[in-house]
Amino acid sequence: MTTSPLHHHLAPTAVADREEFERAVLDGLSRAPRAIPAKFLYDVRGSQLFDQICELPEYYLTRTETKILRACAPRIAELAGPGRALVEFGSGSSVKSRILLDAMQGLAAYAPIDISREHLDATADKLRRDYPGLRVEPVCGDYMAIDTLPDSVPRARRLGFFPGSTIGNLTPDEAKAFLRRARTLLGDDGAMVLGVDLRKDPALLHAAYNDSAGITAAFTLNLLRRMNRELDATLDLSGFAHEAFYNEEKGRIEIYFRSLRSQTAMVAGWRFMFAQGERVHTEYSYKYDHRTFAALVEGTGFRVGQTWVDDDSFFAVHYLVAERLPD
Ligand code: AVJ
Repeated sequence: MTTSPLHHHLAPTAVADREEFERAVLDGLSRAPRAIPAKFLYDVRGSQLFDQICELPEYYLTRTETKILRACAPRIAELAGPGRALVEFGSGSSVKSRILLDAMQGLAAYAPIDISREHLDATADKLRRDYPGLRVEPVCGDYMAIDTLPDSVPRARRLGFFPGSTIGNLTPDEAKAFLRRARTLLGDDGAMVLGVDLRKDPALLHAAYNDSAGITAAFTLNLLRRMNRELDATLDLSGFAHEAFYNEEKGRIEIYFRSLRSQTAMVAGWRFMFAQGERVHTEYSYKYDHRTFAALVEGTGFRVGQTWVDDDSFFAVHYLVAERLPD
């Protein structure tokens, strides 16, 4: 394999990241219908924009979940019991985990799993400073793919944590597969705290993904910027628009970028044609009510132990308990 001069300035992981992005984009633009996986939305700028989304008046998810977690954390601590290892799937900066860390006495360890080394190390350092008695054992990896933890994590009973309705990014089949892997990782005496956005008035859902400040649009279109920067693409940002709508039948928000005119652009040395009105899918955000969530959990080796919602029933925090898998 040859390396272009540009790559000499990048760390090996950055080169691997760029190659993975290139493969996913070329693949996604060569398929019908076109789609690019949502995880690529989170480069440095994308992560900053997502943090801004969480502060938007229309985006009720983050503040609602935080409020629920504050209220139910003592009950979670009781249900889980002492001496657990808290395992977070995709920890980012571990803001919500602090609510559980504050409420749970005598944790054996906190094990945040995240794909970003930098993020993990910075978060671990801060947590060790703020929780001097806590054993922090970061695990660098793709939380969507792993089903065992390294030996650095003590063999205590495990409590998983997957907040933010991130599970909504997955199709129901993918979400089931994720839950099965999490069940394997957490073990027969494992449990899991999971946040999911609830089905509600479509107008409220629509507003949450079409905010008046245009931050969500910038978040979607940042994917084009990233392609221009990292894949030498020539996409004209003014020629595309963010599109998000609620598909009531499927119970999901669908997000795309749409070509406003007929145009062509280069991406990583290949020319792509975009018809006027053509869309490229970037995200699903599935919403679950109690019935559809129970159906999702069915057959994954978990059962829903307890559920907490806010006063408006906008968001749910579920406590899942491991149950015997039928063999
Ligand atoms: C991080 C997947 C939970 O679906 O609400 C927010 C991502 N995209 N606005 C969501 C997102 C556009 C978010 N999740």
